[in-house]
Amino acid sequence: MKMPIIGIGTWQGTKDEVLVAVDAALEAGYRHIDTAHVYKNETGIGTVLKKWFDSGKLKREEVFIVTKVNPTHLRPEHIEKSLNESLENLGLEYVDLFIIHNPVGWKYSEEGNATFENGLLAVDMTTDHVACWKVMEEMVDKGKTKSIGVSNFTLKQVKRLMENGRIKPVYNQVELHVYFQQKELVEFNKKNGLVTCAYAPIGSPGLETFNERFGSQVEGHVYLHPMEDPVVLEIAKKYGKTPAQVLLRHLVQYGVGVIPKSSNPKRVKENLEIFDFELTSEEYENMKALDKGEAGRQFQRGGRFSSTIKHPEFHIPQISST
Ligand SMILES: NC(=O)c1ccc[n+]([C@@H]2O[C@H](COP(=O)([O-])OP(=O)(O)OC[C@H]3O[C@@H](n4cnc5c(N)ncnc54)[C@H](OP(=O)(O)O)[C@@H]3O)[C@@H](O)[C@H]2O)c1
Repeated sequence: MKMPIIGIGTWQGTKDEVLVAVDAALEAGYRHIDTAHVYKNETGIGTVLKKWFDSGKLKREEVFIVTKVNPTHLRPEHIEKSLNESLENLGLEYVDLFIIHNPVGWKYSEEGNATFENGLLAVDMTTDHVACWKVMEEMVDKGKTKSIGVSNFTLKQVKRLMENGRIKPVYNQVELHVYFQQKELVEFNKKNGLVTCAYAPIGSPGLETFNERFGSQVEGHVYLHPMEDPVVLEIAKKYGKTPAQVLLRHLVQYGVGVIPKSSNPKRVKENLEIFDFELTSEEYENMKALDKGEAGRQFQRGGRFSSTIKHPEFHIPQISST
């Protein structure tokens, strides 16, 4: 199978916003859409897809759709329900890629909503990846997804699925940007035939506001702004490109997929216009040198979400708030 290296991200896009953003993305030429059951915007995406299919401008096989198991459904008996609902919401008979959204399962909720107990996210401490993976494989057998993968998994977690599964994971979607380049994981994936897909590819500038709004702030966390980095700004100036385009171009040259999110049609189009210039090896190396390793990680679990830290499959090494 082939996956377009760039897709449109939709996290934090409301149903109404994705109606505009996904339409603009298809118009601009994107043929890869990233969503999730938990984003609650799949029906908006489904509406746009139906319009495009009905008009004859797009065939189902021309677009690559990714969705994810709702963390409240990360249990063998609930995974198929999560996918069935996603398919219904999207108006599709199959997705191209179905992934486990997060290694940590949350307490089951029929509607797929996070629940909170004593002010903290209720987690399911019994998450069993190998048992869940068997159901993921069944989803392929049943033709409900073409392929299966994971998100936010460590190498150890991926290796366990490779050793115990019948179908190997083909993809791991992780936080990845110029300040957090995940070299070991990318290397492993390249050697083992997994696609690495970068979320937050331009640094997720909306993350701080989101964390404040949802009470998931990690105390003392300093947010980084790769779009303001002098190295990035200088390269952008040279090519007459925006910092976002330079950050995306760097990742594409690094050999990873990118799924920048925008709800603004102008920025949606801008983010796709990265194939008409190329970083020289010196520029590429200068950007490679901006990697901060773990210190560059922006997605952490604090505040109301700090309960996930006690889950046996939780893995983010450094956390300042519990
Ligand atoms: N698997 C996971 O756990 C996980 C976690 C996070 C994200 N994701 C996926 O990855 C996608 C991307 O990650 P993300 O949304 O966190 O971060 P991102 O794509 O790095 O950044 C998105 C933010 O940047 C702004 N933006 C987009 N294009 C821009 C441009 N050209 N110039 C300036 N600002 C721009 C957007 O605002 P506007 O909308 O106003 O343009 C939005 O606030 C998500 O949408 C989601 O599909 C997955």
